[in-house]
Amino acid sequence: MTGGGSSIPEVQSLLRVLAAGRNVAELGAAFGEGAAAMAETARSVVTVELDPERAAHARARLARHANVELLEGDCYELLRGRGPFGLVFADGGVYDWEAILSFLEPGGLIVKDDLTPGRPVAGDPVREFLLRDPRVAAVEILTTPQSAAIVAVKRTGQRRTGASSASPSERGTSTRPSAV
Ligand SMILES: C[S@@+](CC[C@H](N)C(=O)[O-])C[C@H]1O[C@@H](n2cnc3c(N)ncnc32)[C@H](O)[C@@H]1O
Repeated sequence: MTGGGSSIPEVQSLLRVLAAGRNVAELGAAFGEGAAAMAETARSVVTVELDPERAAHARARLARHANVELLEGDCYELLRGRGPFGLVFADGGVYDWEAILSFLEPGGLIVKDDLTPGRPVAGDPVREFLLRDPRVAAVEILTTPQSAAIVAVKRTGQRRTGASSASPSERGTSTRPSAV
């Protein structure tokens, strides 16, 4: 079985809020708990799980949600050409940020959880992309005192350049998450 467990309740609450009215893609369904939370408010959820045993559990859990589609296999292969989505919950394995950006509509959100608060941006590929790439704006928040998530939005168009237009977290100079 592939590693990684279910999302924590605090993250599921965040997802429930951010998914509202959106078409959602989830990379890594595991047992379907995150998808079930998002399905409560989302317009639609496509969730993908690599591990067949986990996918079977998720399928059973999600059967009652008419707005959820569960796919079994590699998320990058199966989501290619799908979307655009209003929210991508990036929660499985390796993160191909270029592919994830291509799945999103302008103004679409990325959620990445399971982060350890207070870590430096430099040398952390997840934070380097989400907090420094000019194509997104992002905030790191605490989901519990011991865990953090990043919520990022795909920018809709041109932005001003120059140091004054970027927040400290966008410049990667602050690693202190905001509390939710
Ligand atoms: C942290 S768990 C997901 C938890 C789930 N999102 C939730 O909210 O409960 C990560 C899952 O991603 C799956 N995974 C890893 N690489 C994947 C890939 N390339 N495509 C689809 N699923 C993948 C793993 O098998 C694992 O079940």
